[in-house]
Formats: sequence, structure tokens, C-alpha cells
Amino acid sequence: MNFDLANFEQNQTGLVECLGLIFPLIFPNDQERRNHFLKRLHEGLEELFAKLGGVPFTTVEEAVERMKSVEKWPMGDETRLREIAERMREEHRKEPEKDLLQLWKDQIGFPYQQETDEDGNTAWKPFSKLGARQAILNDLSPAATFIAYNYNTPVDVQAFEVEAKRILKEVEEECGWMYATLANPVNGEPEEWAVKLRTCKTADEIRKLLKSNSHWGRINYTVWSDVFICPECTQEVVFWEAAVDKEAGKVHKEFPCPNCGAILTKRNMERAWVTRYDKAIGETIRQAKQVPVLINYSIGKRRYEKKPDAFDLALIEKIEQLDIPYWFPTDRMMFKGEQWGDTWRAGVHAGITHVHHFYTKRNLWVLGVIKSKISISQALLMFNSQLINISKLNRYRPEVSFPYNPLSGTLYVALQVSEANIFTAYENKFKRLLNAFAKVKGYSLIFTETTGNSEIEDKTIDYIFTDPPFGGNLMYSELNFLWEAWLKVFTNNKPEAITNKVQGKGLLEYQHLMTECFKEYYRVLKPGRWMTVEFHNSKNSVWNAIQEAIQTAGFVIADVRTLDKKQGSFKQVTSASAVKQDLIISAYKPNGGLEERFRLTAGTEEGVWDFVRSHLAKLPVFVASKAGQAEAGKGRHGDTEMRGKGENAASPRRPFSDSLEIIAERCNYLLY
Ligand SMILES: C[S@@+](CC[C@H](N)C(=O)[O-])C[C@H]1O[C@@H](n2cnc3c(N)ncnc32)[C@H](O)[C@@H]1O
Repeated sequence: MNFDLANFEQNQTGLVECLGLIFPLIFPNDQERRNHFLKRLHEGLEELFAKLGGVPFTTVEEAVERMKSVEKWPMGDETRLREIAERMREEHRKEPEKDLLQLWKDQIGFPYQQETDEDGNTAWKPFSKLGARQAILNDLSPAATFIAYNYNTPVDVQAFEVEAKRILKEVEEECGWMYATLANPVNGEPEEWAVKLRTCKTADEIRKLLKSNSHWGRINYTVWSDVFICPECTQEVVFWEAAVDKEAGKVHKEFPCPNCGAILTKRNMERAWVTRYDKAIGETIRQAKQVPVLINYSIGKRRYEKKPDAFDLALIEKIEQLDIPYWFPTDRMMFKGEQWGDTWRAGVHAGITHVHHFYTKRNLWVLGVIKSKISISQALLMFNSQLINISKLNRYRPEVSFPYNPLSGTLYVALQVSEANIFTAYENKFKRLLNAFAKVKGYSLIFTETTGNSEIEDKTIDYIFTDPPFGGNLMYSELNFLWEAWLKVFTNNKPEAITNKVQGKGLLEYQHLMTECFKEYYRVLKPGRWMTVEFHNSKNSVWNAIQEAIQTAGFVIADVRTLDKKQGSFKQVTSASAVKQDLIISAYKPNGGLEERFRLTAGTEEGVWDFVRSHLAKLPVFVASKAGQAEAGKGRHGDTEMRGKGENAASPRRPFSDSLEIIAERCNYLLY
């Protein structure tokens, strides 16, 4: 059964008819239906507690009789009741102090427990009979599972704090000079300092030299601009100077050449190139020329801007001349170098062939120092978290106050790059991580492998949430390459489920890889359990491929809704435009009984009804909101409470009445 996005519409008649009862029941709306069954549930519970609660265990016969006498909570025929009673007797031998109701609850998997509230009153509260469960997190990318590990492993927050502060302090002492700039220099001062700087032969000498002046400003960021060649006068044109209106923070499409006045556009100019020897890889490389054009710096809490002066330029030049005495990654991009993948762009990445080419020498050096001092995993997470923001991927966007603006999902290097101060980046991140780590509870199992071939045993998983790749939306192994290069572990992208020209993967290959993954999900999921698939892609072909893959694996798609990440809510899909948003697909693994019955009765009317009945029993209940729009039925996933990503994880627990609804929906007979 495919959900055709264009035609999938909700039945709007309003009346709710419950089939499958001796006399079909019709309710004016779903709330009425819900109220009716909740009332029945309450009555059933009351009778149950009255007839089974607190009375000591006697004989199997008596237990059967007493279970039979419960009218409003049907427990099955005599054979089943006897089975339950026999098991109760066994358990009673082991734990004679337990009362009948408790033994009965254990056998039947009764989803209630007695709790005492703050006032000392006892009440029956619903709970998951499965108890606390462990999560298994899996991704193909080591960068992804490295993040997953650190956010899901309890950490000694104090140890992290001590370690992070120590590293930042030591690195600041060693490298702080790299972000020094003269604060309000008088005429000729920058030139004097530039001369002194040029006499220094080592980083130590520079550090000592700068200590002789106590009035340094601290660079927040340096803007670098591309340089072009004017086709008329063949002079260099610094894009920032010729095309950018600094007051308005705008870039002109057409602008005059500062040398000859010819009207220029980005397209009618050639780039200026620099050829240099790259000692790190022992090769001569040719790269697009970029020059520093603006410095934003602070003195105390006040911020200032200036054009780089003679000292600033000399400092950059000096750093370029010195060797970085630390390790940094020099891997060829995707082990290829040129034209590394689908994120590669001729006009953008010419000469950027290795990982270290994404960094200015200054930031590369500081990163190397930090990396050398890290000894715990959480500090490495902090380190990795800023690797993109402080790279050349950080676009300079004067209209945006936020300091980090890489174009997400790409490795785009803009015409104007903002080289961010590494210390500021890490100081900010450090505070946020401290808060996050303090909240981590419980362990998870983390696997780094293809979902298409997992080590998990058959039918052991209660619920699956998956956020798979969406066709060619994001080239994960390419985008993760910078992080992974610093981690020194790379994605094996052979089974990576994406469409990617350079990897030779089209839609068919994508669908095949996704099918392999869903088959594994199917294998490990317990029968009758649910899988939630998040999906985002505007192409119908990818949407169809995902649906095909889910169904080929054996799942039944029961529901599709849009996820409004801002609101954290689910809405039912009503139009094709919904594919532009995130979709939430709910699918279940039919339990073996249905499959077997379907096989035996295939082609018969009874077989069809059996499927329809089983499927309907799985479907969520729609609750009409005030606006008449369908919202998610609660408890679709059995014991699993599903939340939107944007929803506050610490939101209050569901009220008791809500939980009863969950139970009501889990009891198939109440759904019909
Ligand atoms: C949409 S992202 C989800 C990222 C993250 N796990 C989450 O849920 O937020 C898709 C992820 O699928 C991973 N991936 C791609 N092919 C895979 C495969 N065959 N097995 C496991 N993970 C795969 C990618 O590395 C990427 O991290």
C-alpha cells in the first residue's frame, strides 16, 4: 500500500464507526469514541482490583474461577486462564509472599504498578512492562558515532571542566600572540613593530617580543577576500575593495575596476593565483589568491574594526614562514585530491585538494596545539565541534551578527572568508558542553557500521527510529571528511546509502542500499513492533524509493505525517507540498501470525479481511484538533512515547488519563 502524497486525504465525515463488535458502534466524533472506551477501561480496572487484589493465593481452580468472574476485563478462554493460573502457581512456589494480583500481573504483563504519591496516597499507575530500555545508536560515519558516544555516555563533568580549562589556558599562553593586533596605534607604530617582528626567527622570539608591549587588542576575526585580475588592465582587483559596499554590507554585481575604471563582474574576471611550495605534503601547489582585508578586534569588552596594518600583515607573513611543530591532517580529500566528490566545485575548490587547505596557517597551527594536548574523549568532542566554524568554510556575512556562517551541507569556500579566533570559539562551546554533559544519563550501545549488516540478534529490538540519508541531499562521507581526518578514522562509504555521481550511485543503487538497511531493521525488530522513519527530500522519486525499500523489507506503512520541527508537532500529510517538510513515516513489522494466516488464506475473502483487521488494529487513532486538522494519535508505538525533535525532552509526564488512552489503544478489541 503506497501513500500517494497528492491523493492521500483524511476522511472528513466526522462520524466514527467501530467495526468488529457484535453491534457496530457509531460515535459523533473520535473524542466520544475515546471517552466511551476509557470509561469501560476504568470500570474494568475497578472490577479487577476488587476481585483479584489483596486476597491470598489458594488453588489453581480458585484462581481460574476468580479470573473468570472478572466480567469487564476479559482475559481469554478457560484454557488460557488455566495456563496463567499454572504459571502463577509456579511463581508462587518461588515467591510465596506475593499476592494473587501481583502474580497475575506478572504473568499477564499487566501495565500498571502501585505508586505512592507525595501525600502518601497509593494509586495504580501505568508503566512499561518492558522496564527501562537501552538504546543502540548506529551510523556508518565515525564522526557521527563519535558525537553520539559523547552525548550518550555519562561523564565526569568536573574532570572535563578541569581538562578543557587547562588546555585552553596552555594553548592561549603558547599561541595567544597569533591573534594580537595593535590597539589604536599612532602613526608609524605598525611599521616599527613589523620591522621588529621580521627579525624574529622562532615562535618563542615572537612571544617574547610581544610581551614587551601590554596594549594589544585581541583579534575576533580576520576577513580574507579573493583577488581577481581585471580583463582590461590585467591588474589585481581585491574583490572586497572593488565590489563590497562596506557601509551597507552589500556586494555589488557590477563595479568599476579600481585601476582602469572598466566595469567588472565576478564572471568577467579571472582569478589571481599563487603558486607555493606546501611543505606539509612536499608538493608545489597553485591556489586562488586570498588577502586579509578587515580585522575585527576587541580591547576589553569593546569591539573595533580596521584594515590590517603593517604589523598585522607582517604577523601573518611570519606565521606563513614558520613550520607548525604539531601534527595536523594532510589527507587528500576523499583520498583523491582534485574533484574529490559531489561537493567539489571547479570554481570554488581549485587548489583545495587536501584537508589542511581548508584552514589558514594560523588556525591550523592553533588546532594542532590543542589536539596535541587532549587526553579525554569529551575534550576531543569539544575540539571537533568547532572544526568547521574556524575553517575557511566560515563565510563573512556582515549582515549576520552570528560569527559562524558556513553554508551547511556543502564544503563551499566563499569569496570572503571569516577567519575566526579559535579561543573565542572554544570558550563559547565549552560553556554549552558543560551544561549538556551534566544532563547525560544512562549508557547506550554505539555501533559504527552499515545498518545493512548489523551484529544485532534477530527479533530483539522493541522500537526503531531512523533518520536515513535522503537521496542526494547530503554527501555525508564527504562532509564528514574534515572531522574524520582530525579523528584519524574515516567512513567506509561503499555501503553509504546516498545518490552520488562520483561514487557511481544513482537512485537504483540508493534504493538497493536502503532496502538492505530496512531488511536488517526488519530482521532485528520484534514482530508487531514499530519503526519510525524520518524523511526529508523534495523529490518524489526519492520518496518513492524510500517507500519501496520499506515495503520490500516487509514493513507495513501505517501512517505518514509532516513534522513541524519548530512546533515539534505532527500533522497528517494532505498534499504533495508536504514533501518539502520533514515527514514521519510510521511502519510496523507484522507479527508472524498474520503472515502465516495470510499465506494460508491468500486469495480468499477471509484472508483479505484478516489483513484489514490486523492492519486496522495497528493504525493510530486520529484526534481532530480545533482547526480540524488531524494530529498524532498517542501511543502509536506501543510502549514508546514518541516526541518531535523540537519538543522539550524535559516536558512533564503525560497525565494519568493520557496514559489510559495508550493502554486503550493497545488493546485491539477497544479499537474496533
Ligand atoms: C539524515 S543523517 C542522520 C544523522 C543522525 N544519525 C541523526 O539521526 O540525526 C543520515 C545518516 O545516515 C548515515 N548512513 C548512510 N549510509 C548508511 C548505512 N548504510 N548504514 C548506516 N548509516 C548510514 C550517514 O552517515 C548519516 O549520518
